[in-house]
Amino acid sequence: MEAQTINGKELSIKKRVEIQENVQSLKKEGVVPGLAVILVGNNDASRTYVANKQKACKELGIYSELITFDATVTQDVLLSKIHALNENKDIHGILVQLPLPKHLDEDEIIDAISPMKDVDGFHPINVGKMVIGQDALMPCTPSGVMVMLEDHGISLSGKHVVIVGRSNIVGKPLGQMLLNQDATVTYCHSKTHDLASFTKQADILIAAVGKANFITPDYVKNGAVVIDVGINRNEEGKLCGDVAYHQVKEIASYITPVPGGVGPMTITMLMYNTVKAARKAIER
Ligand code: GUN
Repeated sequence: MEAQTINGKELSIKKRVEIQENVQSLKKEGVVPGLAVILVGNNDASRTYVANKQKACKELGIYSELITFDATVTQDVLLSKIHALNENKDIHGILVQLPLPKHLDEDEIIDAISPMKDVDGFHPINVGKMVIGQDALMPCTPSGVMVMLEDHGISLSGKHVVIVGRSNIVGKPLGQMLLNQDATVTYCHSKTHDLASFTKQADILIAAVGKANFITPDYVKNGAVVIDVGINRNEEGKLCGDVAYHQVKEIASYITPVPGGVGPMTITMLMYNTVKAARKAIER
């Protein structure tokens, strides 16, 4: 039987309605949630992501500020800006769009963001809290995947989840979130020997590889849930994921498409984190 599609676009709309309601109640309490986005240089993909983040803020009634710097900006100028935003009462979330130009120290930049305003969930304090199961701001793409699984009633307890990809943005945090929900988690990556022998065991397979159509049916167990976090361009320049969607759809139980799968959920979870940070700020 053909897999059921998990539609991230529809779910995203549903979740944004809930978030918008939370924005409204914060406004009634006199607080407008605010997000500052820092963009360095002219990376086309980054500019598109940032524009989409701004647009989502506008739609939900979240105040947003875009701060752009030339690619030649110094570490000190960037750090000063972050320090100022940490002190700014109108701003509840700070996001530095990655990757940064090579001369900048990404780790030091992330460390400078107040953990309470770290809506990307990249600060070591938030990463640490997540690992030990404390309340934290958590990375947006993995959070989006968790919401998609939950919304479809896909149980995690005791399930074998195999994650292909170990980035700090997706693979590693997603594995921790799944572990916190009692899944058995296997991390695979570019150095893994005989990758298919692992992925074939997955009840839930997460592809976060960054290679177009890399996961073919040879890597997938019959009836598996397949989550595609990849955003690639194929030879024709068309947007596609890490999973050979049409072939894998024939054997999976659930599958996420690209576009229209995990992607739309990422920005929705950023909005969620911004509202959460604003709520926490007034409760302090
Ligand atoms: N670059 C690619 N994904 C992300 C993300 O989730 N957050 C930030 N800040 N930069 C990114």
